[in-house]
Amino acid sequence: MSERLWLNRRAFLRGAGITALAGAANSGPSLVTPVRADSLDQAGSTNYDFDTVYDRVGSSSVKWDAAIDRYGRENIDVGMGIADMDFRAAPCITRGLAERCKHENWGYMSTPRSFYQQIADWNKNRYGLEVDPESITLSDGVHPALIAALNALAPAGSKVLLGTAVYSGFYGDLRWSRTIAENSPMIVENGHYRMDFDDLESRMSHDTDAMILCNPQNPTGNCWSEEDLLRLGRMCLEHRVVVLSDEIHCDFVMKGQKYTPFASLPDKEVVDNSVTFKAASKTFSLAAMKIAWFFSTNPEYMELIRAQHRANTNTLGVVANQAALTDEGADWLDQVNVYIDGNQDFAEQYIRENLPGVEYTKAEGTYLAWIDISGVAERLDAKRLAAEATANSETGRPVTAEAIVGNWFVDNAKVQLNAGSSYGPGGENHMRMNVATSRKILKLALDNMAAALNDL
Ligand SMILES: Cc1ncc(COP(=O)(O)O)c(C=O)c1O
Repeated sequence: MSERLWLNRRAFLRGAGITALAGAANSGPSLVTPVRADSLDQAGSTNYDFDTVYDRVGSSSVKWDAAIDRYGRENIDVGMGIADMDFRAAPCITRGLAERCKHENWGYMSTPRSFYQQIADWNKNRYGLEVDPESITLSDGVHPALIAALNALAPAGSKVLLGTAVYSGFYGDLRWSRTIAENSPMIVENGHYRMDFDDLESRMSHDTDAMILCNPQNPTGNCWSEEDLLRLGRMCLEHRVVVLSDEIHCDFVMKGQKYTPFASLPDKEVVDNSVTFKAASKTFSLAAMKIAWFFSTNPEYMELIRAQHRANTNTLGVVANQAALTDEGADWLDQVNVYIDGNQDFAEQYIRENLPGVEYTKAEGTYLAWIDISGVAERLDAKRLAAEATANSETGRPVTAEAIVGNWFVDNAKVQLNAGSSYGPGGENHMRMNVATSRKILKLALDNMAAALNDL
């Protein structure tokens, strides 16, 4: 590399606030302060402003604009669906991107080695997880990475185990890999979810080659304990089921809860039987920047997956991620976590006091609220309406009771939520609500819903 180009690259990194970190790749000191959600001080730690509403309408956002396109501007006050955040991005990200844009050339990029080190440092400093930077493979999303892993490790026609209700996108990944969902519904008691280990084991047959684990779990918000993960991991090992652990939501942990990386389990054989998938796309709301990564302590798995994996990274995505995975980004994230924890508390209390027919037990992690709407479905006679709509459906596609409840909330409260039925068995009688927004917007949505329910 010529000296001039090298100097320019240093200037980009400096702008992104990551020169020190690039250096740290060689020297090894940690630049991200470890933090536990339960040690955060609610009062004194919000110098970023998450309260002021950041208007995303007109920015081609799925959360707002796609809902408006579908239902009409007059019918949507709040989009509470897809999992990204409404907040203005962390300033270190905006600065890093602006600095890079000063260099007006967008040719093929050579991904800096320092990025891999940053990913390893983030895992080490926040979660005590040792990740060999050499073992990390970048992807243009968790989906392409998961699809490659399924294609590599689960033959077409084989079964993939899922603990349901679970992130709807996994079903799409199974279609791309021509594998079949083996759904194991979780057990729910008083709003708390747990894995049904007997059921899971009974489904680990000779043609079940992989399990997609979601930790923390979308949509229920469970942060799986070390005990749960070890039990599951040992079962999977015994039955030759590879664990594909999607940990994209891991940076959102509510007060008093703990995220345990699957790869941190104290059983080497169990860990060697897994691949972990991560990204900063939820953490810093960089979803459309299309960067994710995966790693494993099992070089054989990595080689097989890499052979199926053709991903392109992109310059702005890498710059944004490098700017985010820094001390400054970590501070922003800690504050977002405090704010979201407050939103989750607010939603739980508000729903209990004001939304007849709706129940919610606060999530342990994620910024998602998995709300039980059985009472509303019953009052709407949603099952009967769904059966009628299915019978009259021109496309022949079944209409679910949850879709009926979802449409009712749009028509009567101008709030868009995600129907639980798309999250597999166990999604009945639920809707998913994204609370990563200004508390004013959250309150507006809940006020609208309360008014609609009180008129019902
Ligand atoms: C559990 C989980 N995995 C993967 C994704 C999508 O990841 P990506 O956008 O990186 O493909 C999501 C998005 O909501 C998710 O919740």
